[in-house]
Amino acid sequence: MGFRTIEELCADLDEKRKSALSGGGDEAVKTQKSKGKGTARERIAKLLDTGSFIELDEFVTHRCENFGLNEKKPLGDGVVTGWGTVDGRKVFVFSQDFTVFGGSLGEKHADKICKVIDMAMQNGCPVIGINDSGGARIQEGTDALNGYGKIFKRNTLASGVIPQLSVIMGPTAGGAVYSPALTDFIFMVDKESIMHITGPEVIKAVTGEDITGEELGGAVTHNTVSGNAHFCAKDEDECFEQIRKVLSYLPLNNLDDAPFKPTNDSPERADLSLREIVPVNPNKGYDVHEVLTRVLDDGEFTEVQEGFAKNIVTGYGRIAGRSVGIIANNADVLAGALDINASDKASRFIRHCDAFNLPIVTFVDVPGYLPGADQEKGGIIRKGAKMLYAYSEATVPLISVILRKAYGGAYLAMSSKSLGADVVLAWPQAEIAVMGAEGAASIVFKKEINAADNPSEKRLEKIDEYREAFANPYRAAERGYVDRVIMPEETRKALCEALMVSESKRETRPSKKHGVIPH
Ligand code: HXC
Repeated sequence: MGFRTIEELCADLDEKRKSALSGGGDEAVKTQKSKGKGTARERIAKLLDTGSFIELDEFVTHRCENFGLNEKKPLGDGVVTGWGTVDGRKVFVFSQDFTVFGGSLGEKHADKICKVIDMAMQNGCPVIGINDSGGARIQEGTDALNGYGKIFKRNTLASGVIPQLSVIMGPTAGGAVYSPALTDFIFMVDKESIMHITGPEVIKAVTGEDITGEELGGAVTHNTVSGNAHFCAKDEDECFEQIRKVLSYLPLNNLDDAPFKPTNDSPERADLSLREIVPVNPNKGYDVHEVLTRVLDDGEFTEVQEGFAKNIVTGYGRIAGRSVGIIANNADVLAGALDINASDKASRFIRHCDAFNLPIVTFVDVPGYLPGADQEKGGIIRKGAKMLYAYSEATVPLISVILRKAYGGAYLAMSSKSLGADVVLAWPQAEIAVMGAEGAASIVFKKEINAADNPSEKRLEKIDEYREAFANPYRAAERGYVDRVIMPEETRKALCEALMVSESKRETRPSKKHGVIPH
């Protein structure tokens, strides 16, 4: 016996690398592919810039002795981790390998994920997690549960420090859904991703309900009904494109600047067609996306949660090259009223933008909070309060454009001057009032209307009188609640100016541990 030669040692390393690369073996890889799914490494390769991936911990193995697991110790333990670049910017990644124990999470698998989150935090880089897993590795018992707990804790501490993006590319069941839910955004692939706490069989046994996995926790359900997910892709390739796009708007961490994207789109560009898009009649609908694409750089708007609570639109755009977050009421859906889901959706996006220093531009056309017993019983009070809280708490530049209606409490909630908006712009057809002309006239002139020979004629007369006197931007402008009344076509230029002046904004808050946000 003597020392082995360097060639033998290198050949040994080569073997180990091959073994790690083989994942759960050819058969399991074949099954994975037959479902139209990529392997863990293929997915990373598609997400990152070509050749940029550096793998960590490829030789990690579990140390479970139960249920014969000591006989099977696949290198890497079912998750591929490391770092690389997206558009030349550093990111950390983990990608669960379903071909190894169904991607299930045990102690060492969790440790690998924790390591990349820790490194991402230390180095101020986003972390992207690709989930494809049967959940807690049953054989590892409490060690597996402890592993999830450690990830949840890290997700929480990293929240607002580095962007965390979760990708669901297979099953995510039980408590395993909570790591994605603690991160900024969840991306799902149609007919491939499933997320639920308890699956169809358990539901059937407990409540007797019959429901398919897809209906219960598929991409469409979470992107349109539950609001748990933020992006829905038709396939894995489109999903990776969406992730790269979102990252292009975001800083690497909360102390970094968002990437600047030069544009030939002039800040002075005046689009006269804006005059035609928002009808002067406050009862008519229109699609607010038409306004956004005419105002933002190169007409580019990237929507977040496109399919959920469509009465409010959230997403990213750029103005004069700088990333901004957009919140806009959509008059085409529920007349743009704020309801429980819209308040939830907007509040979270406001906090996301505030955490990552993206100025927020709010386009306002809101008739009020949505009336209804289900809204009241469902907690519109606390949900609405959450939105007031989110805007009030935000210290990033807040610019508002009142396109048309801005009534009552919902006017206040939509980034009003009193909640801290830095610059409030209003179009000539803006109506800033406690309520619409019909409602207001009926209340204020009730006695006069009832005493008239022709009450309905009198009512119309009074509505006109009220509309003329109050349904305009000038009452609010007289008080300074609106800073500037602008022509619709001046919006892009006015936003560029407002963002330029508020770029150097500094705002401090009273020292405290943290507030108690309405939920
Ligand atoms: C260990 C698991 C596993 C798990 C799957 N496998 N899930 N091994 N622990 N949780 C293994 C299977 O035994 C199988 O191994 C291989 O992975 C592939 O699984 P299949 O069932 O053949 O695949 P498929 O038909 O595609 O079904 C996938 C699945 C199903 C829907 C995910 O495997 C499943 O229902 N798994 C259990 C899900 C679950 O209940 N997990 C616990 C949730 S509770 P072989 O060797 O046969 O190839 C939880 C608590 C977390 O996660 C709490 C955190 C706070």
